[in-house]
Amino acid sequence: MDSSLQDIIDDARAAVAASADPAALANAKARFLGKDGAVTQRMKALGKLSGEERSRVGKELNQVKQTIDALVAEREAALTKAELDARLAQESIDVTLPGRGLGKGGLHPLTLTIERIEAIFRSIGFDVADGPEIEEDFFNFTALNTPENHPARSMHDTFYVEGRDDHGHGLLLRTHTSPMQIRYARMHAPPIKVIAPGKTYRVDSDATHSPMFHQFEGLWVDDNISFADLKSVYADFLKQFFETDALDVRFRPSYFPFTEPSAEIDMRFATGPLAGRWLEVSGSGQVHPNVIRNIGLDPERYIGFAFGSGIERLAMLRYGVGDLRLFYDNDLRFLEQFNR
Ligand code: PHE
Repeated sequence: MDSSLQDIIDDARAAVAASADPAALANAKARFLGKDGAVTQRMKALGKLSGEERSRVGKELNQVKQTIDALVAEREAALTKAELDARLAQESIDVTLPGRGLGKGGLHPLTLTIERIEAIFRSIGFDVADGPEIEEDFFNFTALNTPENHPARSMHDTFYVEGRDDHGHGLLLRTHTSPMQIRYARMHAPPIKVIAPGKTYRVDSDATHSPMFHQFEGLWVDDNISFADLKSVYADFLKQFFETDALDVRFRPSYFPFTEPSAEIDMRFATGPLAGRWLEVSGSGQVHPNVIRNIGLDPERYIGFAFGSGIERLAMLRYGVGDLRLFYDNDLRFLEQFNR
């Protein structure tokens, strides 16, 4: 090869090796292979040579070009790798650094109470179900044996929602969790054992009532159960919930359209600040035959028991909270006490 061509290769090798970054490398490449580069100029000059000369020098120039291309490609790969290595080194995190000590969140006392209720009922084979808070009047009232003119439907204690759903049904904020009796039982075959905790709404507001509050519904449908089963399940629940056997439970006759007979469940602590006082904790009863029919079951064969308990009420008794509104004021001094 022509010694001047060998010089070009040596120059190129030095220039490429001296390129510290991709821009410098691109400049170095252009010096030889660019429009006015040393190799390009010689290629342009090939036309002036005679046929034989032209083919020999042309071949050599091609070799020079390939050599320089290879040098550039090799350097480019090396630069890319170096850049990546530098980035990785810079971005590496020190996992041994101590954390920044962000404040730890906690669960709301009502959430803790709901989790507690769910755990107790799950442990005796109850499913836990969830349902809509904007409910059809059919599920909230009609299917629960509560006819059109029933006082429970009154505007005074019910939040009606304007408009109707896709099926033309009237809508309201559910006044209790009892519609879940119908919804759940229509989708499950007996034996049915379920609780359904959630938000409920009534036009009501004072130290022990809030327009939004929580209930949990219980439903148990089977073909050979009695009121005694309901009594023992609920009494055991209360003892586990309050972590004491030192309490009495009584069922006091009452009225609900969807149960017959119906009862209020009262409890009384034997010790502690509330000892000796009967405290109302739940509505309950044997599911009315009309409701069993609305579920799609034969009341001659199936017996159901239901209860609907106030969750705030149970939380207040368990924690000794005197004003229900404290649960909704979001005062951290109050809320933090439940997460120690
Ligand atoms: N739904 C009733 C209420 O909110 C409680 C209840 C539930 C009563 C189930 C009987 C059976 O007052």
